[in-house]
Amino acid sequence: MRDYREVATRLRAICQGERDEIALMATFSQELFASFDGFDWVGFYRVVSPNILKIGPYQGGHGCLTIPFDKGVCGAAARTATPQLVADVEQFDGHIACASSTRSELVIPLMDNAGGVRAVLDIDSDQPDFFTPADIEPLTAMMADILTPIYNAEAYQGEGV
Ligand code: SME
Repeated sequence: MRDYREVATRLRAICQGERDEIALMATFSQELFASFDGFDWVGFYRVVSPNILKIGPYQGGHGCLTIPFDKGVCGAAARTATPQLVADVEQFDGHIACASSTRSELVIPLMDNAGGVRAVLDIDSDQPDFFTPADIEPLTAMMADILTPIYNAEAYQGEGV
């Protein structure tokens, strides 16, 4: 089982006090990408209008820019507000192949406190069957810790340097 405790601690320290969505998503993606061999693409797709996901900060090869809720693993996670664990992408009907090297995938919705889906975290691996259900809880908890709070307070006004 993968141990997320170190990366969770580091992220919490680095992101302390930060409220900007892009800054947080970029840091979150980079930390995960750098921490685990086999995480070959890590990034966010954001809900930008009803039923549309748009690419956000990510690490890895280029990802497709727009994903409707009725397409792909990311769309399924956003539509159902449920994590999607795909052991073999070739068996997932409608999988969107951004990289032909991807073999397995884990997509977890990022929720606000009102139960709305704000984005999805997409992690792809070039290895088959790379993720397990045990990955879901720590990643969900890290997003709830680092990202969910920014959607629940007053609108972020920037740092006003
Ligand atoms: N495979 C995803 C699309 C995103 S990329 O792989 C980065 C999907 O089927 O939703």
